[in-house]
Amino acid sequence: MTHNTSAFLGAAQDGGRAKYFHGRDAVWDEFYDILKDAHRERGGTVFLVQGPPGAGKTAILHEFANRAESTGHWGHGRIEIACMYNPRRMAAALGDSAYVDRTVLSTGRTTKVGVSQGVAFTHDKHAEEAAERAGPSSDEVLRSHASRSTKGLLLTLDEVQNLSAHKANLGRRTAIMGVLDIIRNATAGGPVVLLAGGLGNSADVLGGFGISRLFAGCLHNIGILKAAAERNVIRDWIVKGGKVGSNVRPHILKHWIDTIASETDGWPQHIHSVAPQVARWLKRNGSLMPDTVPEAVMERGKARKHAYYAQRTSSLEEHHLCARATLIASGPLGAATFTHMALHRALRAATKKHDPDNEMMSPVQAIQVAIKKGVIAAIAPRRLSVPIPSMHDWLLDTYGSTEGL
Ligand SMILES: Nc1ncnc2c1ncn2[C@@H]1O[C@H](COP(=O)(O)OP(=O)(O)OP(=O)(O)O)[C@@H](O)[C@H]1O
Ligand SMILES: [Mg+2]
Repeated sequence: MTHNTSAFLGAAQDGGRAKYFHGRDAVWDEFYDILKDAHRERGGTVFLVQGPPGAGKTAILHEFANRAESTGHWGHGRIEIACMYNPRRMAAALGDSAYVDRTVLSTGRTTKVGVSQGVAFTHDKHAEEAAERAGPSSDEVLRSHASRSTKGLLLTLDEVQNLSAHKANLGRRTAIMGVLDIIRNATAGGPVVLLAGGLGNSADVLGGFGISRLFAGCLHNIGILKAAAERNVIRDWIVKGGKVGSNVRPHILKHWIDTIASETDGWPQHIHSVAPQVARWLKRNGSLMPDTVPEAVMERGKARKHAYYAQRTSSLEEHHLCARATLIASGPLGAATFTHMALHRALRAATKKHDPDNEMMSPVQAIQVAIKKGVIAAIAPRRLSVPIPSMHDWLLDTYGSTEGL
């Protein structure tokens, strides 16, 4: 199924596929238990991995789907939100277009929507909505598939926080809730597990679609990789990616790994900013390792990291960034965690001083945008943090000393 999902599954979804995946063992163990239970009981559940941008959610979705498929007991369908309210898209994602077309024909209902590769494409809003109503609904498509399949069905859905955009559309919300409902209540006629990935507010967003609480073990907040996993990823990029081979001297390899890890802070996105460049440099230079990592390569990696921070913070107001940095600096030993209330108070004071007419972003919006951009993350109810240690330092360096602002 994964192979014939069609063009509408954008290239963006491929972005996170990790060439050398390591770590996340605790999440996998829980997920594997859930899969085994679901298979045995012909049940279903929603398993959510949430975290800030660059933490590795998309990579987990790809990796876990591969592992599930390789057990031989699970088929995989990659869906996007539209599949949950547009049955043709659901059918295409499951490789079942023929079923929907047949059913539409047999009920005599037709639609004006052009069909390309089994998927409805249209720019006409009314025709699109007509297509959503024609024939079976997405949950029926899913049920039909699950009850015919000899294997369990693993669905992956990325960027699940974007469901919030469909909350106000009653028809779509009902359709989405219908799909989630048959998965959660195990009424699909076969084992179905939805592995969802999304930003830190995803569990709250799912709450607006009838999932007020995820079952035990089904909600995971991911952050930095453990040191051993981080080092394994870096090692693979050097040895396999850089084609260094087995004759590498261990102390030099260790030194290279140490140097790279000192810049990546366990953050998958940073590893990805630095390690592939190192691999490229090695390949270009005959895969021979000098005693130290060439400075120019590390500098490029560092620049990418800072560009990533600048991009993450670009839509926030400067006075809010300064207030945030001051708040971080005032914490115990510069700890990067704070309460929601303390942050709101600091942002409100900054707004009062620098934007008295409220022409710019409000403190509430500033918190929402910062969460969306991964500048801060919820780590517990009403408690926030700056999830990437080096971003916390970067915020302090860049905005912490602007005292007079
Ligand atoms: N466990 C891992 N092992 C190796 N590489 C990883 C791992 N997790 C993530 N990566 C790599 O790190 C980069 C960032 O990961 P990914 O795109 O999955 O993050 P994300 O949480 O989905 O971010 P976003 O919210 O921006 O979509 C990718 O290049 C990915 O391949
Ligand atoms: Mg992603």
